[in-house]
Amino acid sequence: MALKVGFVGTGGIAKRHLDNTAKRKDIQMVGYADVALERAEECVHKYGGSAYDDFIKLYDEQKPDVIVICTPPFAHGQIEEEAAARGIHFFVEKPVAVSMELANRVQAAVEKSGIATQVGYMFRFSEATKRVRQLLQGRAIAMVQAHYYMPGLPPPAWWPFMAKGGGSENMSPTHMLDLGRFFAGDVESVIAMTSTVRRWTPIPDGYESPDRMLAYADEMDIPDVTGMVMRYESGALGTLSCSIVPQGKWDNGFKVVAEGLLVTVEGPNASWCGDEVGEMKAAECWPEYVLYELYDQVIAGNTETSVPYIEGVKSLGISLAGYESVKRGGCQVRVADLM
Ligand SMILES: NC(=O)c1ccc[n+]([C@@H]2O[C@H](COP(=O)([O-])OP(=O)(O)OC[C@H]3O[C@@H](n4cnc5c(N)ncnc54)[C@H](O)[C@@H]3O)[C@@H](O)[C@H]2O)c1
Repeated sequence: MALKVGFVGTGGIAKRHLDNTAKRKDIQMVGYADVALERAEECVHKYGGSAYDDFIKLYDEQKPDVIVICTPPFAHGQIEEEAAARGIHFFVEKPVAVSMELANRVQAAVEKSGIATQVGYMFRFSEATKRVRQLLQGRAIAMVQAHYYMPGLPPPAWWPFMAKGGGSENMSPTHMLDLGRFFAGDVESVIAMTSTVRRWTPIPDGYESPDRMLAYADEMDIPDVTGMVMRYESGALGTLSCSIVPQGKWDNGFKVVAEGLLVTVEGPNASWCGDEVGEMKAAECWPEYVLYELYDQVIAGNTETSVPYIEGVKSLGISLAGYESVKRGGCQVRVADLM
């Protein structure tokens, strides 16, 4: 029998997961819930199933086996808790929440129900990042230097507000914090500073926004550049530089300095030199793997996944420690104190 899958939040990133799900012959797409009902209805035209403006109706009428949650960071909580209460497995986009209190509440619901969960940290699934992790095993890691430079402001209206985007989107891109944990283990403490270096508002007369990244906003309260220093539990030090100042291209990656090995990660690809020399590119379909793993595990009757909800909680903890450091004027903040 086909796995029954539903979606909550059918905006920008959901399109990738909808298309990837539609490629699977062993899955039936049963329904879509979005507070903007017309977006859910568009999915019905494209993939079949039913549209709802309320996720509870989707859960109770369609009884999906799995739901894919692609709502903005501020909208998490009840969507996951009600799924867990009904034994519905879930995939959730990063970051998992905007507060540790809410993330811990959802984690408790997940543990109680025993469902399978997966967080959308897709960079962990590229063949190249997996190989880098293997190569780093057993070596002393010295530095984990990361950057995440975006070519402007993404279009969703919630994005440029701290309380809605949750900081792990704007201030300290959560993909890099998670991948740093994948390579080098948990982070013990963080120091962070932010700044705004560009005039973003008001929107100049005659400005036409491109459909992808924006160079102006009507209002915003996020910084446009961030610097973080992290101490990993292993003793390794890490840095993360982030910017949303428009500059023409996406650029994200790492340098990892380890005993006998220097690794360069660029997007999902990697190269290394030292006592081993090599390079590896991710397969074209690498962003599919994070969702497909959850589907495959549920079909096989397993609940283990590579990035269960608790991993999202831990990666969120680093962002929140960064926020706290900024609030305290750049003091060192222990991640464990916020968990
Ligand atoms: N993994 C990645 O590379 C990646 C890329 C882009 C976005 N994301 C993440 O995905 C999430 C969504 O981002 P997006 O760009 O798709 O945002 P979006 O604003 O384009 O889409 C969000 C959708 O959720 C709907 N929604 C809001 N509250 C809801 C609720 N309570 N119930 C049902 N629907 C609700 C909105 O109407 C909208 O259609 C964010 O957390 C973002 O960080 C991840």
